[in-house]
Amino acid sequence: MPLKIRLGNGEKGVLKTSDLYFIQKLLRTMRNPKTRFDSREFVEKGEDYLFNYVGKNVGGIDEGRRNFLKGIVIGVAAATVVGIIPGLRVLVPPVEQATGFPKSLLVDVSGNPLKASSIPVNSPIITLYEYPLTGEPNFLLNLGDKSGNPVSIAPVEVSVPQTGKTYKFPGGVGPNNSIVSYSAICQHLGCTPPYIHFYPPNYVGPSQLTAPEPNTLTAQALLAAKQANIPALIHCDCHGSTYDPYGGGAVLTGPTQRPLPAVILEYDSSTDYLYAIGAIGVATYPEGSDGVPSQDPTKDLDTSQYGSSVGSKTQVQASTNPFSGS
Ligand code: FES
Repeated sequence: MPLKIRLGNGEKGVLKTSDLYFIQKLLRTMRNPKTRFDSREFVEKGEDYLFNYVGKNVGGIDEGRRNFLKGIVIGVAAATVVGIIPGLRVLVPPVEQATGFPKSLLVDVSGNPLKASSIPVNSPIITLYEYPLTGEPNFLLNLGDKSGNPVSIAPVEVSVPQTGKTYKFPGGVGPNNSIVSYSAICQHLGCTPPYIHFYPPNYVGPSQLTAPEPNTLTAQALLAAKQANIPALIHCDCHGSTYDPYGGGAVLTGPTQRPLPAVILEYDSSTDYLYAIGAIGVATYPEGSDGVPSQDPTKDLDTSQYGSSVGSKTQVQASTNPFSGS
């Protein structure tokens, strides 16, 4: 049966069954560790990389399929398709808020509940967990000042440059209200860690201007941090987008036109546990299975072609220190 889709120009359209099968196959291939899609290379080489990737790993790239893929790249294809290719998320029309995500306890690598008070302040180590779907990475940050003291993060109104709209970021949680969490997928063209990561205060300075990738800051990023009076930032080395971790993931410098979506965290002070309970910002969800914004993301996430829900627990992993080699 043809799938109704929303087109990049806001109109409705129909996805052919053969295209749907093709997309599902492509999605499986992209998620396979042996044939993983390199979003960074895609950002650098554009549609040529995508065509080569599909030709090599999926096959069947005739003229029609090439035009279909090209349609995705230039923004006339389905939001349902766009969501599966990190580098193409930019084409998904913004949605400001979604409710109904699963409530997931944050656990450590041993499966034990992560204690909020154990999260180091201003850690340079890229610390991630998946939420609300498998394969969707988010930063977990305990923010501090230049001296390493936790900073209480107040609720703030976040602007979306792409639309001019705003939404309310609820602020930090934890014993000092200093713990925040943002999507680790750059909202420009979808680069992921280590190309996008947190720069603690001691890495926000002129020496980073000449640091090797993925730790290069732009002069604009440094200036923006100074003007915003913040000691640390989140920066994407792919094209220089910079985000304010103290200000709800707001855009400090482009080319991104959208803030980093935030995961809404809940803190249980009696246990010191943290739960991910939702997301706010420019949602990469909640496109339902029929390709339109869902009223019930929990239900649609379970049947989504994007991935499966992480469920009631999600594991936090401190992966790499990107600065350790610099
Ligand atoms: S993907 Fe372009 S700045 Fe991040």
